[in-house]
Amino acid sequence: MQHLIRTSDFSKDEILGLFDDAREFLKFEPNEILKGKIIVTLFFENSTRTRSSFEIAAKRLGAEVVSLDVSTSSASKGETIFDTVANINAMKPDAIIIRHSECGLPESLAGYVDCPIINAGDGKHAHPTQALLDLFTIYEHFNGNTEGKKVAIVGDVRTSRVAGSNRRLLPRFGMDVSFISPECFRYDGDEFKTYIHISDVIDDLDVIMSLRTQLERHSEIYFESLNEYAKDYCITNEVVGDRDILLLHPGPVNRNVDISDDMLKDPRCKVLTQVTNGVAIRAAVLKKLILA
Ligand code: NCD
Repeated sequence: MQHLIRTSDFSKDEILGLFDDAREFLKFEPNEILKGKIIVTLFFENSTRTRSSFEIAAKRLGAEVVSLDVSTSSASKGETIFDTVANINAMKPDAIIIRHSECGLPESLAGYVDCPIINAGDGKHAHPTQALLDLFTIYEHFNGNTEGKKVAIVGDVRTSRVAGSNRRLLPRFGMDVSFISPECFRYDGDEFKTYIHISDVIDDLDVIMSLRTQLERHSEIYFESLNEYAKDYCITNEVVGDRDILLLHPGPVNRNVDISDDMLKDPRCKVLTQVTNGVAIRAAVLKKLILA
């Protein structure tokens, strides 16, 4: 049985196989590939896109989805998450999708279950399906020619799990990843180029991945207001100019802080394409893990 905890759980060939399925699922033709299967979602952190994307993906394949409302679950009565998951597992679901603020939790739970666990985000560690859908969006945009493409991840790269998963995944497909951030969000490691100013590198970029500032994960206040951050890091028409750059963001976008209103409307910005691709990629992941 295979779980999806981090993107390295899939080989390159397996990822390309997911892309083949995702392209089929993007036709949105009715099918019953997962008819009779039951998928449980357990979201201990807020989510708009990821949870609905998994649920729609599952339903598009004919599966049933049970979404545990964690605010009313027994976690609030003192049950440990391990016991909650062991109980859900005892009801014999076909997959469990989990989001939690604790890094490494989905991996620790994998030993307690008889079905695939899918990590829908664990703290600042990983968000594998987001990175897979980002890679798919880039891959399709460049017709598979990702080798040598220069991708800058902009913003709170230190605490973003989207940055965490993408910096591991995109280089496997030949991409040159760098980070652009203020000093306070600077990536600690030395295996990636890091820049403070977008203008230092913008002329070389093929892709900009803008991120939301992860205020909920900060223990200190770095900016008086996000407008102060936006002055240097908001991706505006003025910043991008007429360059041929693909602009991505995992959502939720803080308008005029991460990306300006005008750039959100610009055809180079593929934020909603990412959302559509997300359903197809998650459907492909569910199919792969559940029918394996
Ligand atoms: C991201 C997350 O939750 O990590 N959102 C998402 O899943 N699309 C990014 C974020 O919250 O900033």
